[in-house]
Amino acid sequence: MALEPGRAKGLSIGIIMDGNGRWAKKRGLPRTAGHTKGAEVFRDIIRYCNELELASVTFYAFSTENWSRPAEEVNGIMKLFGEYLVMAYDYQKENNRVVFLGDRSVLLPKYQEQMNDIEQKTRGNTGTILNVAVNYGGRQELVRGIRILAQRVLDGQLRPEEIDADAVSGVLYTAGQRDPDFILRPSGEHRLSNFMLWQASYAEFVDMDVLWPDFTRDDLDRAIEEYNTRSRRFGGL
Ligand code: IPE
Ligand code: IPE
Ligand code: MG
Repeated sequence: MALEPGRAKGLSIGIIMDGNGRWAKKRGLPRTAGHTKGAEVFRDIIRYCNELELASVTFYAFSTENWSRPAEEVNGIMKLFGEYLVMAYDYQKENNRVVFLGDRSVLLPKYQEQMNDIEQKTRGNTGTILNVAVNYGGRQELVRGIRILAQRVLDGQLRPEEIDADAVSGVLYTAGQRDPDFILRPSGEHRLSNFMLWQASYAEFVDMDVLWPDFTRDDLDRAIEEYNTRSRRFGGL
């Protein structure tokens, strides 16, 4: 089942890439093998999102809670992040505007430099916005935003009564972007796990039974078709 042309154009999607560990376990492989396969799928799905002309896609790659995993696994994921995105991403060829969501200050300095560089160099690109959430947590993002607003009040630049929903959206990592239309979670789990808490307020939730390393372009087509059947009311009738 291929998606009809234009069916996904302009959509904003969030993807919680989950199930790498279970994929590896099923095959008797170390968990890092699942992350490697997951990174390959990530690279292919980015390109498919570009072909579909999505407005934006946000990939959840590493959460603020994922540090609680064994150091070996965390190091493996960080190495893959470097190999697949920071080092190998061909921003000269792709037309994505790349934005990294999350607290990058604790990542390796060489990654931080490259992340800043990629954001800088892709700033003027007009294709799909590619958000990559690394050391990202929705609560951490909100706490950071609240501190920014509090500082502005303290500095006399902002009055408390001027703080509205737009002001909050404006201090998040996704400032200036549209909220996601739907959030997709493969692996059969039915939770947000601290992903885009503010931005997801009216997002449709689409969960799928496939594990992320098995996820294909056809699966994304299916998720979009599922989203297209939903009736969004935003509290109205
Ligand atoms: C998602 O896969 C990748 C990250 C959270 C970094 P998991 O590693 O969570 O895989 P499962 O959920 O254990 O199968
Ligand atoms: C969410 O997956 C985080 C990412 C996909 C990066 P987790 O596997 O960490 O979430 P939980 O622990 O199942 O809620
Ligand atoms: Mg998981």
